[in-house]
Amino acid sequence: MNLEIKKITEKITKLKAINKTKTIDLHSPYFDNSDLKNLKECIKSTFVSTKGKFVDEFEKKIKNITGAKYVILTNSGSSATYLALRSMNIKPNSEVFIPSLNYISNANALCTLNFIPHFIESEYNSFGIDLSLLEEYFRLNFKREKNLIFNKKTGNVVSGLICTHIFGNTSNIDKIKKFCRKNHLFLIEDSSEALGSKFKSKHLGTFGDIGLLSFNGNKIITTGGGGALITNRKDVYLKARHLSQNAKLKHLWEYKYDNIGYNIAMPNLNASLGLSQVKRLKKNIKKKKKLYNFYKKLLSKFSILKVSKIDENMDSNYWLITVLINQKSIKLKDKILYHMNKSGIKCRPVWQLLHTINVFKKYPRMKLFKAKLLEKKIINLPSSPHLNIDEKK
Ligand SMILES: Cc1ncc(COP(=O)(O)O)c(C=O)c1O
Repeated sequence: MNLEIKKITEKITKLKAINKTKTIDLHSPYFDNSDLKNLKECIKSTFVSTKGKFVDEFEKKIKNITGAKYVILTNSGSSATYLALRSMNIKPNSEVFIPSLNYISNANALCTLNFIPHFIESEYNSFGIDLSLLEEYFRLNFKREKNLIFNKKTGNVVSGLICTHIFGNTSNIDKIKKFCRKNHLFLIEDSSEALGSKFKSKHLGTFGDIGLLSFNGNKIITTGGGGALITNRKDVYLKARHLSQNAKLKHLWEYKYDNIGYNIAMPNLNASLGLSQVKRLKKNIKKKKKLYNFYKKLLSKFSILKVSKIDENMDSNYWLITVLINQKSIKLKDKILYHMNKSGIKCRPVWQLLHTINVFKKYPRMKLFKAKLLEKKIINLPSSPHLNIDEKK
C-alpha cells in the first residue's frame, strides 16, 4: 500500500476511537428527543398523511431559509424533478441539457416523460457545468428560429437546462442563468445537496425557474424520505401543487380530476421530522465547516489527496467533503477506496457518468473530457455533521 494512503487512513481511523464507533459513516442522519417529540405529536393527531400542520410549518421554514416565494413539499427529491418537468409546459420530445457527471434522478425523470437528456461537460472547480465549453458547443451546433432553439444535428427543439449543485457547491450559477435567459431555455437547479448553501448571498435553487431539494436520510437534514420544489413563479407553483395532489379538483365532497396527477406530496409524518431537524441546520453547517478545515489541514502534509476548493462567492453547506487524487496517482483510486473502507472509513467515489449507463448511451452529448477525469479523481470523505474531531469532547 502507498505510504501516504496508509498514514492518511491511520489518521482518519483515529476518529473511530474519538466517536466510539466501529465505522465512520459517509453521512448518517442524527436524531434526538426533539425528533421523537414531533413524531409522537403527529401520530397522536392522526394526521399522518399529506394534510396537517407540520406540512404547513415545514413549508414556511423552507421558504424562510431559501427566500423562495413558493414551496411544495414532495415525498422525495426525485419526484420533485418529475413534478418540475410536468409543471412547465415543455414542448414534447424536447432535448434538455444536463451534465453527465450527475446523480441519476434528473435523467430518469426526463426519460420517463419522453424528453431527451443532452449530456454536457463539467468544470474542475465546483464539478458543475462548464459554461464556456457549453457556449462554444451551443454556438456551433444549435440554431435559433424565433424564440425556439433547434439542435442542427437531430432537428429537435432544445427547451432547457438542469444544473446540479454538486456536494452543496456551485461556481457560476449567475452566468448559467444569463445564458439560459438569453437563449430562451428554462433553468432548473437541482439543489438537492445544497440546503443552506448560498452563492453571492442568494440561496441555491432560487436563481432559475425552479429549484429542487432532497431530505433523504443522507442529506444535511432529513425527513426520512422527502424533497421540495421551490420557485418564485406562481404559475409553476399552482400547477405543481395541483399535480402533486392527483390533480384533484377542490371540492367539499366530490372526487373529480382534470389532469394526470400523482400522489407525491410529502406526508405530515415526514414533515414533523423535518420541522425538528431544520432547527439544526445552522449548527450542522458550522460543524461541517470545521470538519472541512480538519481534513484540509490533515491533507496539507500529503500530496496524493487534496481537499477540493470552494468558490470564494459560496457560503457552502459543506454537504460532502471532497478530495481529488493527484494526476500521478489516479490508478490507485480503487486501492485507496478499498483500503479506507476496509478500515471502516466509509468514503465513496462519484457517480458513474450518465452517458456511460446502457439506457442513456443513445442520447446526444458533448465531448466529456473533464467529466471523465473528474470521475477518476473524486473521492468523498465521511462528512456527518455530528462526527466529532475533538479528542477532548
Ligand atoms: C444531486 C441529487 N439530485 C437528486 C437526488 C434525489 O433525491 P431523493 O433521494 O430524495 O429522491 C439526490 C439524492 O440523493 C441528489 O443527491
